[in-house]
Amino acid sequence: MKTGISYIRVIIFMVVAFWLLEFIIDSGEQMAIVKYPIIWAVLGVLLLFAIAVEVIVEAMNSILYRGLDEEAKKRFKEQEALKKEQGFGWFSSTYKKLLGSKPVEKEAEIIFDHNYDGIKELDNTLPPWWVYMFYATIVFAVVYLVRYEVFDDVNQTEEYEIAVAKAKLEIEAYKKTAKDLVDVNTVELLTDASDLSAGKTIYEMNCVACHKADGGGGIGPNLTDTNWILGGGIKNVFNTISEGGRAGKGMVPWKNDLKPLEMAQVASYLLTFQGTTPAEPKEAEGDVWIDPDAPQIEASTEVTPDVSDSTEVNN
Ligand code: HEC
Repeated sequence: MKTGISYIRVIIFMVVAFWLLEFIIDSGEQMAIVKYPIIWAVLGVLLLFAIAVEVIVEAMNSILYRGLDEEAKKRFKEQEALKKEQGFGWFSSTYKKLLGSKPVEKEAEIIFDHNYDGIKELDNTLPPWWVYMFYATIVFAVVYLVRYEVFDDVNQTEEYEIAVAKAKLEIEAYKKTAKDLVDVNTVELLTDASDLSAGKTIYEMNCVACHKADGGGGIGPNLTDTNWILGGGIKNVFNTISEGGRAGKGMVPWKNDLKPLEMAQVASYLLTFQGTTPAEPKEAEGDVWIDPDAPQIEASTEVTPDVSDSTEVNN
């Protein structure tokens, strides 16, 4: 009798043990075996254990087998052979069926009776694997035709365009949540106290020398009035801070020193100067800036006093 140690069983056992450990042990992003090297030791012990079990089972089997009489030994062998057949029988018979070739002994049945210089031809049927694949292509063609030509399902180009449009929407949504990605097109006036106080700190560190702490102006223009040289409103102000003023005037670009979010913060902060009265205001420069996005205030229609009874003379 020879069944042998089943290495396949040991390997399966180890693989299952490995994944179970990975599954049970919470190790975050990393694999448990990388995070906790002790698992190697655990797996080693399990491997020894599995091999030991196999060896013991094998030894017991051979002891039992030796104790059997001739009749029982024969029956045991038959059973083992049957087990093997059942195990691989399905695969091998299916495989043979798919090849579809006749066994060599039966070739005489399908040989053509022509003979060219000793070369003969067999009348084999087409191999079933090939025939099934051919049928599959026919089914595929029908499904394809109906789906794309009859029901006009979206084709690859349209699928691509849909995916791109969706991704663009997602990018927009993401930009809204990620403040640091602002640029001159997406910047909006920040009103959170934390942003404004951060803006104040940046302003006091970088800008007061020329614009004064209260925005009254010095080397740089007055930031408290409604007159702007380079345009008012958050977008223009952000752009001025990022790109600098007119050449040679002294306002340098800040985009290399300040992050986009910081420029948005300081821009929002200095816009809070609007309408305040600084200690020593510099005279207005540039034009009065009207926000094109702001709702237009309708020119108030003057209420003309009712003159119908003005003839009445009050005594
Ligand atoms: C070295 C002096 C100096 C510093 C420092 C400086 N600025 Fe200016 N700033 C100027 C000058 C000069 C102008 C006018 C530019 C022009 O006429 O083109 C100006 C213009 C501006 C304007 C546009 C005003 C308008 O009327 O259009 C804004 C906004 C501004 N500065 C913000 C800032 C901020 C924010 C900082 C700090 C991060 C800063 N500046 C730092 C000198 C300075």
